[in-house]
Amino acid sequence: MTDDLFDLHTGYVTFKNPIALATMAGITDSAFANEHADRAGLVIIGSFNLDEKTNDAASKLIARDRNEFISDDPFEFLKNEIEGVQSDSVVAVNVRSTTIEPLLKAAKIVKDVGAILELDAHCRQEEMVDIGVGEALMHDIPRLVDWIGKIKQTGVVLSIKIRANVVNDIDLARAIESAGADILHVDAMGEVLSADLRAIRHIRDSTNIFLIGNNSITCFKDAKDMLARGADMISVARGVLNDSNSDLISELVDNITAFQEAEGWYNAPKHICGGEGDLRALAFCCLPVKSCAVHNKIGKLGFSAQEFANLKMEFAKGTLLEYGDSTCFGSLIWCCKLSKPCFLRDGVLDMIGLSGAEYMRLKKDLSIYILENAKIPVNEIKNK
Ligand SMILES: Cc1cc2nc3c(=O)[nH]c(=O)nc-3n(C[C@H](O)[C@H](O)[C@H](O)COP(=O)(O)O)c2cc1C
Ligand code: SF4
Ligand code: SF4
Repeated sequence: MTDDLFDLHTGYVTFKNPIALATMAGITDSAFANEHADRAGLVIIGSFNLDEKTNDAASKLIARDRNEFISDDPFEFLKNEIEGVQSDSVVAVNVRSTTIEPLLKAAKIVKDVGAILELDAHCRQEEMVDIGVGEALMHDIPRLVDWIGKIKQTGVVLSIKIRANVVNDIDLARAIESAGADILHVDAMGEVLSADLRAIRHIRDSTNIFLIGNNSITCFKDAKDMLARGADMISVARGVLNDSNSDLISELVDNITAFQEAEGWYNAPKHICGGEGDLRALAFCCLPVKSCAVHNKIGKLGFSAQEFANLKMEFAKGTLLEYGDSTCFGSLIWCCKLSKPCFLRDGVLDMIGLSGAEYMRLKKDLSIYILENAKIPVNEIKNK
């Protein structure tokens, strides 16, 4: 396995794989991360309460039998907890405060040790929301944006943790991205018990931000389903608490590593025809000659069918995707995902000596090329 198999970077951090431990207040400290998530690309510990009001609110939560971390010296506590993580996983600390000053102080500490600050705009416990933290930040986008701008001036890598389906996800995600946050961590909680995967796809198709998808991941299939909607990483919270599956993070790391080695694009999108593909899936679309879903997707990016065809052919020039006379449209540039069985495509791959993983890596580059050259950038597509 290469050191940079997944090519996952943001700011000054590089993640060794796309699997993260998500925070559970009062539970996910450094000791928990060491025991359950030492192989994760990212461990997010906390949430740590940084001021008196959040610590008081946490005490009230403890009084009604919830777990919370409280401390008389939150910054020393924070520092010790980061130092307590023994693995080479990137560390993030999820934090809450009613005012900006403690967040700035924490940001400096976190940046100095090369970790990530994650602002908790997610917590829905009444005691927190009533004092203006957690979910309250999602309802006060101007304050959230102001805080992101100020925190980013410290130079820290900043993640914002939100929950989907609370406010307009696209407006919120775009505000967070344009304010300068590095990472958007989305709990895709929906109305039913499983994750709302459409929320991840919609955010993917509206922003370019580094995206962590979260909710209800308990096996590799769940992780793959979320990654296929455009999440750059996935995170797991409750799944790790399950006694029968306490090695879940390690299992996910093994599976995603084997998958990336074999298939070359660990978060490749679904095809657009099935209704679940995000815009990156245009890399797998046919020559746009028939009436199908491709026209709606390319229209969003401002392309006519001819312009889209020209763009893909321009990319193909000089690459191995140019080959494929015997395929449906005369070139691999129009060919489907590797996971779709096709003897015509595979015959061409064999003939030109292109492995499946290399084919998929070229398709990934193609998807980036299409989106970078869109006439309407994704973060400007009209939000209906
Ligand atoms: C007991 C518990 C405590 C949590 N505390 C926090 C928290 O302090 N901050 C936060 O951003 N998310 C918190 N979460 C949310 C989780 O990080 C995660 O988003 C959510 O549980 C959905 O993911 P899962 O289905 O993998 O558990 C908490 C979740 C649980 C179950
Ligand atoms: S162009 Fe082909 S792959 Fe794309 S949506 Fe249409 S039929 Fe499906
Ligand atoms: S040749 Fe196979 S992979 Fe290529 S477009 Fe046709 S069905 Fe898809």
